[in-house]
Amino acid sequence: MILPLFLLAYAGLAFASDQRTLLEQPPDITFSREWQILGPFEIGTREVTWGADPLEFYGGFRNLEYNLKTTFRSPLVFNGTTSWSTREALLSYESDEVSSAELDVTFPDVDWQWLRDTYGWAALQWQAWARGEIYIQHENVDVLILNTGGVLEYWIDDQHYFGGDFYGFRKVPVTLRLSQGVHRFDVKLVREIRSMGGVGDPDVKVNLELRRSRRGLVRTNPEFDEGVLISDLIGGDYGPLASGYASVMVRNDAGHDIYVTGIYGMRNECVLDLLSTSPLKLVPGQTRPIAFGVGCVKTYDRRLDAELVYRFEGTTVEHTLHLGVWPDAYESMHEPHKVTYIGPGGTVSYAILKPPSPSAQCENDARNQSLPILIALHGAGVETDSEVIRSTLDDLPDLCAWALFPSGGTSWSGDDWHVWGLADVEAAVGMIPKWIEHVEWSGSGVDVDRWLVTGHSNGGQGTWYILTHRPDKVIAAAAVSGYSSIQNYVPYVSWHTSDPGREAVIQAALLNYRHELLLENAQDIPVLQQHGSKDDNVPVYNSRLLAQRIQQAGADSTFFEVPGQGHYWDGVMTTEPLSNFFSKHLTAHNLTDARTPLNLREFTMVAASTGDMGTKNGAEIIALAAPGKLAKLHFLLDPLTLTCIWNAVNVRSFRFGPNIYDDCQYILVNGQTMSHPTASQVDAVYERTTSGWQLVESLQDEQHEKYGHQLGGMNAILRSIGPFSIVQHSANTQQVALQISRNLCQYYAADTDITSDYSEALNSTGNVISIAIGQDLPQSRDEYPIFVHGRSVINGGSVILHADGLDHGWFDQDYPGLAAAYLRPLQGKRLELVVWGIDADALKTAARLVPMLTGSGQPDFIIMDRTMLWKGLEGTLALGFFDSNWEVSKNSYLAV
Ligand SMILES: *[C@@H]1O[C@H](CO)[C@@H](O)[C@H](O)[C@H]1NC(C)=O
Ligand SMILES: *[C@@H]1O[C@H](CO)[C@@H](O)[C@H](O)[C@H]1NC(C)=O
Ligand SMILES: *[C@@H]1O[C@H](CO)[C@@H](O)[C@H](O)[C@H]1NC(C)=O
Ligand SMILES: *[C@@H]1O[C@H](CO)[C@@H](O)[C@H](O)[C@H]1NC(C)=O
Repeated sequence: MILPLFLLAYAGLAFASDQRTLLEQPPDITFSREWQILGPFEIGTREVTWGADPLEFYGGFRNLEYNLKTTFRSPLVFNGTTSWSTREALLSYESDEVSSAELDVTFPDVDWQWLRDTYGWAALQWQAWARGEIYIQHENVDVLILNTGGVLEYWIDDQHYFGGDFYGFRKVPVTLRLSQGVHRFDVKLVREIRSMGGVGDPDVKVNLELRRSRRGLVRTNPEFDEGVLISDLIGGDYGPLASGYASVMVRNDAGHDIYVTGIYGMRNECVLDLLSTSPLKLVPGQTRPIAFGVGCVKTYDRRLDAELVYRFEGTTVEHTLHLGVWPDAYESMHEPHKVTYIGPGGTVSYAILKPPSPSAQCENDARNQSLPILIALHGAGVETDSEVIRSTLDDLPDLCAWALFPSGGTSWSGDDWHVWGLADVEAAVGMIPKWIEHVEWSGSGVDVDRWLVTGHSNGGQGTWYILTHRPDKVIAAAAVSGYSSIQNYVPYVSWHTSDPGREAVIQAALLNYRHELLLENAQDIPVLQQHGSKDDNVPVYNSRLLAQRIQQAGADSTFFEVPGQGHYWDGVMTTEPLSNFFSKHLTAHNLTDARTPLNLREFTMVAASTGDMGTKNGAEIIALAAPGKLAKLHFLLDPLTLTCIWNAVNVRSFRFGPNIYDDCQYILVNGQTMSHPTASQVDAVYERTTSGWQLVESLQDEQHEKYGHQLGGMNAILRSIGPFSIVQHSANTQQVALQISRNLCQYYAADTDITSDYSEALNSTGNVISIAIGQDLPQSRDEYPIFVHGRSVINGGSVILHADGLDHGWFDQDYPGLAAAYLRPLQGKRLELVVWGIDADALKTAARLVPMLTGSGQPDFIIMDRTMLWKGLEGTLALGFFDSNWEVSKNSYLAV
């Protein structure tokens, strides 16, 4: 029995001096004060997704016992050897309900300065493990939730958890049921510059918190707004709400499935409705944002009381969860206020909207003219619903624009304003016309296709992303203190060394985010750059580099390096150069579209993936010849003959806007004379076929063609129209399903439906994540190139084989812990992400690769074995991309 050991351990428990409450009695739930540490070891930027944990070479930290005599090799430390040590955590308690431990770990003996001088900034990153304990004093401690701020991965007893709460969101904790006694708690420490900065000695601070919960449906974040996302009131305490969409994050802390069946308002004047027509299921431990509509007449008294109706699996008894909500109230709709809308993945998202001021002097003072949108993207870790964001443009009250501050779903904007973040920006833009209607706005209209994009830090980087991916919408762009690409921000040195064939695939998967390679798309668009010379968060090098590269790309920027300033300062978004830039490009806008071949003359369009790529001068790359490589489309006009000359590199198909190119007398595509599409061929594209270029009706073969939005590596799964369905094809996969659900909710604020009914999932609107062990995975169409065969083999289909000139590309059970993660097409241009393992442990290896942190570089498919856990990327057996026909592309990597 565990108890004697437990009492012994308890005797050693001492209270920290600054604990919030000094309890006479030992609290019911505590963490150990002493933690056993093993590390530090190397880790590369965003490498943790791939494992790369050197202790896995010895069977994993969980299989090692504290022993001062054992040593482990590590290139970071003196004599190349490290050993165990201990640290004390700072413990605190709030009554018997909450217990927390703060662990701050440094390794002062490591010569960080020397490592940094030699290998650069990224050498300040490290990984280690810490072992502590959780003590449960009484039998009556039933349901606990665990928040793990700053932690990505941990074990409690024999249960593995990947994902955690790296950025400290505290939105999606883990629900635990721990018996009385002592529980081992192994916490992986990952020091990362992207999220923790890179100034001074690199330490890791983790915040562990156990909190009692109760069986049933609970609000996930009662300490903040009771977890309800709702619009602000515009017109004082009596409303109306700026939008009728709302949502509440709830968690199932019961032991059975819960179905949310309805919602009703406690006052007559508000009509509430779930946005989903069917009951919403939450499996035990699952957190979901429940979207609902709020219809109120204007006599609204600020407080909204509602009851969420739910029942437990197998019963018909209805229970209710009370929601009390106080939306913020603004006197006027002209003030910056929060507006909700349906965002990516069918969730309710929000942006701060500042409509044009009535005193703004805009062209001819035509009150009904359509003004452009000033889109301002926030930096990492910045809450959009905050004074700092709302007041950003206070110094410039009369801009001729709609100012829009999207949230991107989370304070880390989902994925750095990329797939998820950009979808949120576009949903926010689409919200403005609805808002105009909803609040009966009578001022200037909005031009949803003309954006002045700006942003600070990660938002400055996002500005480059939108500039290079939506060039026809961006009238001007101002990137402030932004970085040039993920790899240039914190370099990818210190990754476990890998075959360059594998590294090339990772780099190809990140190509779409390498702004310095996509700058041709910025031609003819005014760009301003601003950066503090003493920025120790995003080094000014990034902006200097882009200032050079943008000229080399035939575009240009105005660059202001601000002497002596750091990353952020008061007024950083309204400096004189920025203010002038905003005024200039927001007033002098020209509503006539003047683009013709004659004034375009020449331009280049470049795309790394068509998944997120818009048009440039009306031209659009539809499909790439080979994914993972840049595609370029060059246009040149011969003014004497009015010949429009297109040259396409790595382009499989493209088209160009009919109104712009009507003047072309002749069309040449890679030297071949082509005709204009006729009026009826609205979807026609120029396609490269085996017999040269042809003008063909658009490729619309559901099953066999890969569509634009299905491209772009594994992140393409994030382009989901509705909530994700997570399908368990095998028994005992609940923990992995929950982990994926938690991580998508924590890192993207996404909604997921966990089910074992595949046909129900296939029949839904969202993308599907299929979890399977062994032979339980249903096959896709026959000729699909990757499939699980029998219990133990993954076959690479014929295409891989042709590419490598081999007859066979299979991996079998001889590879320990064989696992795979890959995309498959679904009906309705949707996607399925298969997460497969030969056994339950192997499944966990594959589950690490479900998109979570940006910059990890997952391509379309990855086959791996257990050695990935310590070798990282080098432990993969095959990885790469699917081409337009869903066949394995030639630039994929196969270790056969
Ligand atoms: C360095 O490590 C070796 C084992 O690899 C050990 O024998 C030796 O004593 C160590 N030297 C010092 C100075 O600690
Ligand atoms: C703008 O207002 C003027 C005068 O009220 C009207 O004639 C014109 O049609 C309006 N234009 C648009 C685009 O609504
Ligand atoms: C708008 O564009 C047209 C066509 O290029 C040009 O003639 C006109 O001067 C422009 N107006 C302004 C205000 O820039
Ligand atoms: C699929 O969805 C449609 C419409 O929502 C519904 O009528 C149909 O019964 C569903 N089919 C299955 C197999 O669930």
